[in-house]
Amino acid sequence: MNQDPIIHRGLDGVVVDTTRISKVMPEINALVYGGYPVQELAETCCFEEVAWLIWHGELPSAKQLAAFEADERSRRNLSAPLLEVIRKSPRTAHPMDVLRTAVSFFGMEDASPEKTDAAANLNRSMDLLARIPAMIGAFYRFRKGQEYIPPRADLSMAENFFHVCHGRVPAPEVVRAFDVSLTLYAEHGFNASTFTARTVVSSLSDLYSGVVGGIASLKGPLHGGANEAVMHMILEIGDPAKARDWMLKALKDKRKVMGFGHRVYKNGDSRVPTMKKYAQKMAAFTGEKKWLEIADILEATMLEQKNIHPNLDFPSGPAYYLMGIDIDMYTPIFVMARITGWTAHIMEQLANNALIRPLSQYTGPGQRTVVPVEKR
Ligand code: COA
Repeated sequence: MNQDPIIHRGLDGVVVDTTRISKVMPEINALVYGGYPVQELAETCCFEEVAWLIWHGELPSAKQLAAFEADERSRRNLSAPLLEVIRKSPRTAHPMDVLRTAVSFFGMEDASPEKTDAAANLNRSMDLLARIPAMIGAFYRFRKGQEYIPPRADLSMAENFFHVCHGRVPAPEVVRAFDVSLTLYAEHGFNASTFTARTVVSSLSDLYSGVVGGIASLKGPLHGGANEAVMHMILEIGDPAKARDWMLKALKDKRKVMGFGHRVYKNGDSRVPTMKKYAQKMAAFTGEKKWLEIADILEATMLEQKNIHPNLDFPSGPAYYLMGIDIDMYTPIFVMARITGWTAHIMEQLANNALIRPLSQYTGPGQRTVVPVEKR
């Protein structure tokens, strides 16, 4: 009889716990946050409402939303030491590395991070939601030799992001498309970074450490880093006339094409149609049609050849490019949104904690005797 355990590499298909936060339904290409379809939330609500939903399980009333927005806006400023850490980061560093360090430093500014009760962790989650855009904006500017622009309390989160990076708020169409992307990126079940965050705090480590772990995981090109890789690929192709041949060659060379495929969705990512619609709005707004023409040809060729669908990173990459945002800031923007999902999962994990500690099947040498070094 075969005694070997069944190995689920990459935890593929394994259900490790329950969650009330979101549900991915690959069979009907759907994603719901607290029961609400993500595309409805993106079209009807602002990101701040979605953040409340992810943390509280219900959409806020108008009064609750106003209080939440006022609270978030009051917390946006960074301390002088934290700004110095960002200012002194190497200009050549990837913004995800700077953000990982900035969040870690911010955690050290908390005098009692070990207090992990729900109220303290919700308060910390709000602190991070409010400050991460300023952390991103600070490095955006420092590395270009520009001065830091302090956040403004009269702007929405989406407007303030552009303000701290560019010093101005763009047209409402651009702000809306960006806000939609934040809602689409906010939460997605037990993906790699969220599971990493839950694993970190399952040892009763603190919330900041869980978020730092999430950022570290998200950075990889198989996860959040794909949105940057997609835009580099589209720029490299450069011409719609070259897109089909480029894809055929990539597939012939057995390359993984960034922005396609998904561990859970096999018939299409529920978030793509909404993001694609807003990417198209950005193309119409800017008059720059070429990048989405290339994207459409890549998508059609991939579907025809391999029946593999694009994921959210595929339309978000060119959408952010058309908004005039530096390419290596796309994954930090993902953090700005996903901080809601990560922290909700951290709090859910701690409310009913079980140390995450799976088993492995040993494949090394059999048991043997240690020979002293002089006899080896
Ligand atoms: N380009 C080309 N082929 C791809 C592909 C891609 N982006 N994604 C999957 N495939 C192919 C694989 O080569 C494999 O083919 P094979 O069975 O002939 O070997 C098959 O589809 C299954 O892929 P696999 O990597 O085993 O699926 P997975 O569930 O482990 O991987 C991803 C999911 C997301 C890691 C994978 O699709 C990928 O690397 N995509 C690109 C990165 C990306 O966009 N990440 C963002 C995810 S939201």
